Amino acid sequence: MTDVTTLGEFIIEKQMDFPGSSGEFSRLLSAIRLASKIVSQQVNKAGLLSNILGAAGSDNIQGEAQQKLDVFANDQFIKALTARKVICGIASEENDEYISINEEGSYIVAMDPLDGSSNIDVNVSIGTIFSIYKRISPVGTPVTEADFLQKGTEQVAAGYVIYGSSTMLVYTTGNGVNGFTYDPGLGVFILSHPDMTVPSVGKIYSMNEGNFYKSSEGIQNFIKYAQEVDPGSNRPYTARYIGSLVADFHRNLIKGGVYLYPVTSTSPNGKLRLLYECNPMAMIIEQAGGKASDGQTRIMEIDPKSLHQRVAFFAGTSHMVNKIEELIAAE
Ligand code: AHG
Ligand code: MN
Ligand code: MN
Repeated sequence: MTDVTTLGEFIIEKQMDFPGSSGEFSRLLSAIRLASKIVSQQVNKAGLLSNILGAAGSDNIQGEAQQKLDVFANDQFIKALTARKVICGIASEENDEYISINEEGSYIVAMDPLDGSSNIDVNVSIGTIFSIYKRISPVGTPVTEADFLQKGTEQVAAGYVIYGSSTMLVYTTGNGVNGFTYDPGLGVFILSHPDMTVPSVGKIYSMNEGNFYKSSEGIQNFIKYAQEVDPGSNRPYTARYIGSLVADFHRNLIKGGVYLYPVTSTSPNGKLRLLYECNPMAMIIEQAGGKASDGQTRIMEIDPKSLHQRVAFFAGTSHMVNKIEELIAAE
């Protein structure tokens, strides 16, 4: 175990690439690492703890029932990020408004503290998604909403934690994607997936096909295309859908595939949230050589208008996202 690289070492090594850096960004990543460990531990024993499974009895701003673990994860990430005084504000899927923290901080975080809530009580993989930006308002003043409403292209880092058969933290700072697997015995994340790239030929498609008839013609045509028998182009594709974006995305990143959450007749703007889910995943997939789109526009170029804005989301192997865009354009 002596030739391994831990996440802590990796963060310090990367900081050394920037002589004179204040270490603020490294401390921010360390705060995320700490909160991930705490949430991972809680997720692993969730079945044993009657006080952590189930509904919290409250709704979030989007009218969705919060699970106890949603609230727990949200609290842990906010506490860890607040304690290190490194950021000036946090926007969370679970909070109506953004939270102002340390006026001297240079960064803001947007996060989905617990992704895949419907899977918590049934022992299926869930995750955390985070996105980091430099503030645009001056240091030393209160954070503003404009600091959060930046395009995804402005992200300085993005990542996710998957609480799966093992816990992994995957992140990018715009220079490739690296994945770290948690060793619960040692209490450290170890670099297990250096320089992750998405296979250029994909075979998996991931969509809630219960929404087939609620989707537009272009999406229906893509699903039919995915199911068509054409060995020359690797079809039919394989359908895989967990219902946790983090888990579906992670599998497709490793194996090659595409994730779809289109606009539907009951979710006219899509379901997934631009700031907390789509932008961070878009940065990761692009850094891994793939693509993320809302069907027309590159996700990271969408100008956010509100914190909890939703968008249609297609992400994964480029040729598959291109096909979806082509069939949407042909509608
Ligand atoms: P969250 O638990 O943070 O609200 O996110 C749930 C999201 C995403 O993780 C998942 O891919 C999608 O909702 C599943 O939606 P459906 O149940 O409509 O398929
Ligand atoms: Mn989510
Ligand atoms: Mn969530």
